[in-house]
Amino acid sequence: MTTPDVQGVVRDILARLADEPGGLLPILHELQDTLGYVPQEALPQIAAGLNLSRAEVHGVVSYYHHFRTDKPGRQVLQMCRAEACKSMGADALIAHAQQRLGCKLHEQTADGAFSLEPVFCLGLCSSSPALMLGHTLHARMTPAKFDALIEEARS
Ligand code: FES
Repeated sequence: MTTPDVQGVVRDILARLADEPGGLLPILHELQDTLGYVPQEALPQIAAGLNLSRAEVHGVVSYYHHFRTDKPGRQVLQMCRAEACKSMGADALIAHAQQRLGCKLHEQTADGAFSLEPVFCLGLCSSSPALMLGHTLHARMTPAKFDALIEEARS
C-alpha cells in the first residue's frame, strides 16, 4: 500500500473515531485491522488529528505489544507462549515452527507468506498448546499438525 493510501485510511478512521472518548486506542486497532499494521508514517497524522504529541502516540503504540509497526507477512501466525501452553510443550512447538518456517518470532518468512508472532493466551488454555493463523484458532497443536496447517495455508 502506498503512502497516499495510508493517509486516506487514517483520514477516514479519524473522521469516524477522533471524537470518541479515549479515541486513540480504537483508532490504532482500526488502523491495524485495516492495514495489518500501524505504519510509523501514520503516527504524525494521528497525533495531529487527536491533538496529541507524536511522542504520546508513539508511546502508546510501543507500549501495547498487540500493535505491530512493520508490514506483516501475508498471513500472521500467532503462537501462544503463556503458562498453560508452555506446560503442554509450547516452547518446543515454537522451536519447531521457527525451524520449519526459517524465521524467528517477530520475523517473517523469506517469501513474505507468514509473520511469526508470540501471543499471551488465546483463551484455549484447556486445549493447549494453541495458535492462531489469521483469524482462525487451532488447539492441541503438534509439530505434525503444524506442518499440515502450514502446507495447507501455502496452497
Ligand atoms: S495459555 Fe495458551 S491459550 Fe491460554
